[in-house]
Amino acid sequence: MAMAVKEDNPDMLIPQELLKVEDGDTLYGGFYTQEQIRDVVAYAAERGIDVIPELDMPGHLMGAQQGYPWITCTGESSWGQSFSSPLCPGKDSALMFAKNVYSEVFSLFPYEYVHLGADEVEKTNWKACPDCQARIKTYNLKDEHELQAWFVHDMERHFNANGKKLIGWDEIVDGGLSPTATITWWRDWAPKAVTTATAQGNDVIVCPDFLLYFDFIEQARDLKRVYETEPTTYRADWNLTPEQIKHIRGVQANTWCERIPSVRRMQYQVMPRLLALSEIAWVQPDAKDWADFEKRFVAQVDYLDRHGINYRVPDLTGFNDINVFVDTATITVNSILPNIEVRYTMDGSFPNAQSTLYTGPITVTESTKFIFRPFRPDGTAGAMQTAEYRKEAYSPAQALPDKKMEDGVRMVYHEFKGRKCAEIQEAKVVRNYTLDSVAVPEKLEGWLGLVYEGFIEVPQDGVYTFALTSNDGSMLYVDGELLIDNDGPHGDTKLTAQRALAKGWHRFRVEYFDMNNGGMLSLQWALPGETALKTMTGFKH
Ligand code: ACM
Ligand code: ZN
Repeated sequence: MAMAVKEDNPDMLIPQELLKVEDGDTLYGGFYTQEQIRDVVAYAAERGIDVIPELDMPGHLMGAQQGYPWITCTGESSWGQSFSSPLCPGKDSALMFAKNVYSEVFSLFPYEYVHLGADEVEKTNWKACPDCQARIKTYNLKDEHELQAWFVHDMERHFNANGKKLIGWDEIVDGGLSPTATITWWRDWAPKAVTTATAQGNDVIVCPDFLLYFDFIEQARDLKRVYETEPTTYRADWNLTPEQIKHIRGVQANTWCERIPSVRRMQYQVMPRLLALSEIAWVQPDAKDWADFEKRFVAQVDYLDRHGINYRVPDLTGFNDINVFVDTATITVNSILPNIEVRYTMDGSFPNAQSTLYTGPITVTESTKFIFRPFRPDGTAGAMQTAEYRKEAYSPAQALPDKKMEDGVRMVYHEFKGRKCAEIQEAKVVRNYTLDSVAVPEKLEGWLGLVYEGFIEVPQDGVYTFALTSNDGSMLYVDGELLIDNDGPHGDTKLTAQRALAKGWHRFRVEYFDMNNGGMLSLQWALPGETALKTMTGFKH
C-alpha cells in the first residue's frame, strides 16, 4: 500500500480476490490444486516450454514447517538468525515427508529435471539436535555441511529412482557434490562453485544474483548489462577450460514474488529484461548486436501493447538526477520508444494525464525540480524520474594542505560490519592504501568499510558531472559538501550529480561499505559540455 502511494501505482496493490478474512485476520495467499498445476504444465507444453518445479529443502520451507512442525529438529516452527529453521535430516519421518512431497511433485511435472533448492540453510539447530548428530555419527560425516550434502545425495537417489535429474542451488557444491547433480549458480560472491562443479563434470546454469534477479527494480543500464552477459565467460576468475565450458548449460533469471503483489507488476519487473535474457540464452556471442536489439525491442513493445502485457518503459534520458547550471540550462528529454508521451510537473506533484506535455527542449533560469513521467499509448503511467536543476555559483578552488603531496587517492580500510556510511569512521582501522582511482582493491573482500580522500585539479570553470556506482552503499563529498547519497544496502546502483567548480584544486571524499555480498565501487566524471563518463584519476593526497 505504501509503495502504491509512493509510486502512484495501482499495480502495487494486492488484488482483492487474493485476500480473505479468517477469525478477524486479513490473510493473503493461495495455492494451486493438482488440476491447476496440470493446466499450467499443459499450457506451457503447447508453447514448447517445460516447467521445472522447486520446493525448497532442507531450508526455506517456512510454509511446510508451519503446517507440519514435526519435520524440524525441535518439533516447532521457528525462525533462525537469518532464515527459517530447516528440515531435520536426522529424523527418518522428516526424510519420508520430503520424499512423499517430491513423489507427488514428480507425478505432476513430466520434465526430467526437478529443482531441490537447498540454498541458504541455517545449520544452528542441526548442531544442537541429537537426531542430526546421530546421523552425522552413523555416516561418519565431518560436520553439518556434510550432513547437508548427505541430505542432498539421499534426495537425489529418490529423484533418480523416479526417473528425475536433480538441480540444486550452488550451495550444494559445499560438503561434496554427487557426480550427476546440476547446479544453479546464483552466489555472485562465490565464483569458485562454478569452477569446482565444472571441473568435476557437473552441469551449471548461470543465474548471478542482482544482475539476473528480475525482482530487483531495473536500473537504467540493466537492460544493456543483461544483453551483454555471456554465460560461459561471465566471471574471468572462473578460469574455465573448453572442457569445463561445455558444462555451462545456459542461463536463468529469478523473479521472487514476495514483494510483487500483482500479475501486472510481475510483467513490469520482467519486461523488457526477459527479451534480453532470451537472446543471451539463444544467440551466439558473435551474433549479438546491442543496437540491433534495441531496434527490435522497439518493435516488440508494439506487440506487448497490442496484447495488453505490462512492461517497464526504459528510463528517459537527457538529464541527471541532479543537474547544475550557472546561468541557464536547456533540457532535452529523450526516449527510445517513439510511441510514448512524456508529461511533467515542476511543483512536486505526481505527473498525470493532465500534466504539461513535453513537446521540445525546456529552458530554465532558476532552480527547478522536474518530475518526468512516460505515458504509454493505452494511458499506463510509467515510473517517475526526478531531475533537479540547481542554479549554483562555482565552488571555489581549495588550498592544498601545507605538505608534500603524493600521487593517488588515499584509502583507509576499516573493519566495518554496518549498513550506513556515516558509521564507518568509528570502526577500527585495518590499514591504508594509495590507489589510482576510487575502487575496491582486488584482494579486499568480505565485510568492508572504505574511506577515500584526495584532491584533483579541474582544468576550467565549469559544470562537472559525477557518477558514483556501488554495491552496497556509498557517499560522495566534494569540497566538504555531500553531493551523492548512494547509502544503504543495495546491489549495483549508479547515481549521477553535477557541481559547478572553479578552475583549480578540489577535495573529494568517498565513503563506501560492502556487506560481504560481492562488492563494487566506481567514481566517474565527465568534463563540462561532455556526456561520456570516465574513471576519475589524477588524484593527489
Ligand atoms: C536464492 O536466491 N536464495 C537462490
Ligand atoms: Zn535435527
